[in-house]
Amino acid sequence: MKINSNFLDLHESYLFARIGAIASAYQKEHPEKRLIKLSIGDVTLPLAPAVVSAMKEAAEEQANAETFKGYAPDQSCYGYEFLLRAIMRHYDKIFLAAGRPNVLKECEIFVSDGAKSDLGNLLDLFSADNTVLLPDPVYPAYLDANLMDGRSVEFLPAVRENGFLPLPEREKRADLIYLCSPNNPTGAVYSREQLKVWVEYARQQGAVLLFDAAYEAFVQDARFPRSIFEIDGAKECAIEICSFSKTAGFTGVRCGYTVIPEELKRDGAELNRLFRRRQTTKFNGVSYITQRGAAAAFGEEGERQTALCREYYRENAKLIAKSLKKLGLWFTGGENSPYIWLKCPEGKDSFAFFLELLEKANVVTTPGSGFGRCGEGYLRLTSFGSHEDTREACARLEALLRS
Ligand code: MLT
Repeated sequence: MKINSNFLDLHESYLFARIGAIASAYQKEHPEKRLIKLSIGDVTLPLAPAVVSAMKEAAEEQANAETFKGYAPDQSCYGYEFLLRAIMRHYDKIFLAAGRPNVLKECEIFVSDGAKSDLGNLLDLFSADNTVLLPDPVYPAYLDANLMDGRSVEFLPAVRENGFLPLPEREKRADLIYLCSPNNPTGAVYSREQLKVWVEYARQQGAVLLFDAAYEAFVQDARFPRSIFEIDGAKECAIEICSFSKTAGFTGVRCGYTVIPEELKRDGAELNRLFRRRQTTKFNGVSYITQRGAAAAFGEEGERQTALCREYYRENAKLIAKSLKKLGLWFTGGENSPYIWLKCPEGKDSFAFFLELLEKANVVTTPGSGFGRCGEGYLRLTSFGSHEDTREACARLEALLRS
């Protein structure tokens, strides 16, 4: 028997598990200290009331023989009609804001238990011989999932000089290209013109763009696209992966959706059909209760309430930005994204600065180097904490770094 030896080439633990373990070990040694976590992008506000009431109602239905639901109708694991319609209405609004007609169809949407799972699951459709192109720094799940399959990976530097938004380089050919906008970890957002360049490139190369739109709801500036499908030609070369985690506070509930256009064909096969085949074999769908909650998040009340939550997190981003400005630290992000990406002071390396903040301010962050080589010298902060904790963390950072 042989194991998948690609696992042996991975870093021993996943980035956020590693950071979590370091913070827990520190806490164990210093039980008297109160750590504030601005590390993993986990939401802290409770679910919106409209979501909770829909989920309670759904749980009641599951308590009655007449309304009980087992597997989804026709064993379709792609999502209940009511959620697919709600997602389409969400897209209607995105396209309306962009001044374009909604080009998507319900049959192109796959409901899942979250973007991270789909980002990995989609790889079943692609040969391990394919080459992958990733920005550096990058959300580590893209890299690890491809290394597990043994794909070779090329990196495009996302650096201050290109606004952390790399564009295609002719000499770097790839079959699969990951883009994340608004970006995790840098908070940078691609413009329409830049995404047009990527779509054009992917079509010319016969590549597939895996567009991670998990943070689209944080875009405030209408100049920035919230979906790759706002770009002409994207339906022939892109898959979009979305999440209710950050949009509606579902990090603990788990729900997301992926759009695979019918037009998307590679190697003579329709990728939508292939994924449908994959999902019916390996996935049994998201629970009815969760899907009712997700649909409510995209209902009128749910949209209003979740927008207030995102506004709350934006306030945190402003508090962090204010402190960093006071300290004279260079940073970006936080405006159309929940993440702030800052330059470590005095040329310190990411991990040393991360440790300093942990030990001297008891604030947990994420070292930029954990996201890739080009992240060295940077640190990521999340705005998903409570106001109280964010204020306290800012005060601690100011006290430490001023002294
Ligand atoms: C992050 O902190 O990068 C994200 O919360 C991780 C995730 O969404 O899986």
